[in-house]
Amino acid sequence: MKKIIIENFGGTDTLKLKDVEINNPKKNEVMIAHKAIGVNYIDIYQRSGTYPINLPSGLGLEAAGIVESIGEDVKNIKIGDRVCYCNGPLGAYATHNNVPEQLVLKLPEEISFSSAAGSLLKGLTTYFLLNEVFKVKKEHTILFHAVAGGVGSIAVPWAKAIGAKIIGTVGSDEKKIYAEKKGCDHVINYNKESFKEKVLEITNNDGVPVAYDSIGKVTATDSLDCLSKRGLLVSFGNASGIVDPINILDLMKKGSLYVTRPTLFDYVKTREELLNASGEFFKMLIDKKITIDINQEFNLSEVAKAHESIASRNTKGMTILMP
Ligand SMILES: NC(=O)c1ccc[n+]([C@@H]2O[C@H](COP(=O)([O-])OP(=O)(O)OC[C@H]3O[C@@H](n4cnc5c(N)ncnc54)[C@H](OP(=O)(O)O)[C@@H]3O)[C@@H](O)[C@H]2O)c1
Repeated sequence: MKKIIIENFGGTDTLKLKDVEINNPKKNEVMIAHKAIGVNYIDIYQRSGTYPINLPSGLGLEAAGIVESIGEDVKNIKIGDRVCYCNGPLGAYATHNNVPEQLVLKLPEEISFSSAAGSLLKGLTTYFLLNEVFKVKKEHTILFHAVAGGVGSIAVPWAKAIGAKIIGTVGSDEKKIYAEKKGCDHVINYNKESFKEKVLEITNNDGVPVAYDSIGKVTATDSLDCLSKRGLLVSFGNASGIVDPINILDLMKKGSLYVTRPTLFDYVKTREELLNASGEFFKMLIDKKITIDINQEFNLSEVAKAHESIASRNTKGMTILMP
């Protein structure tokens, strides 16, 4: 099989396509022949060493495909099933991966391999952000950064389906048009204007009850300043770098604020949680409340280009690799 392997942390030159032996799946594993592979920002953190992993290693957490063989203890998945997964094991950037049955989801026939591979991790992330970290309700106006990105392009229609108002940020006017088309109520180009000033203006200085911030270092302080009294900052990514330490007394001074730094993997820890989150997400897709835009498609061998496009902020919606 073909597989991307990294031996050192670093730039995209660390991504090497290799021919490797396929191992038989272990007792509890399912061997999946990939039809499409998802690319996520976390893959860039893992490649660069921001989130260290054991090396040498495969990369990629998410793919969709067809079951090619199964271990002897596998009960609920059979050869030929259409399936997908998004929480590892690392090594989705490959033609095949052996994945524990507990992490494998059957893919509803209405959803294509490309849509699933491009969106499952981002969709489950959106589910836990809007429903579990903070329960967004129709009376809320929320702030969500990078709404033209992968997670953002799912979060906007999901928040709209709940009935909430969404203030989104983007890095260019082209992305602004895209986010408006996705249904975002107010879109701010934070490279041109202060999102903090705009959010306070839009909310008549009340601020928002929740700010979802995946940009990190350059936005976290202003995101805190966008919150209403007892508001919550959900810092869930570091695209611009890791957030500087927050002075706990500032949380008091700025209005008894809360801060959380969640990761999806703690919200889909059990099989029940994974099935619940994916069930909610698949329903949103099947009911057409959310559409998945695969705007960037690369061959597996072009993975470096995929990473460069995302990190240089040239992508909108989802990015996938074809094995
Ligand atoms: N905590 C979790 O469990 C979890 C799960 C999934 C994703 N995430 C996080 O959510 C974020 C979105 O993930 P994604 O895969 O959908 O990526 P993405 O949103 O498609 O890409 C990241 C976006 O961040 C924005 N950005 C702002 N400053 C940047 C900078 N200095 N360098 C690069 N990008 C910058 C860019 O949008 P603009 O040009 O519009 O600014 C870019 O398009 C990432 O930070 C990711 O780590 C967290």
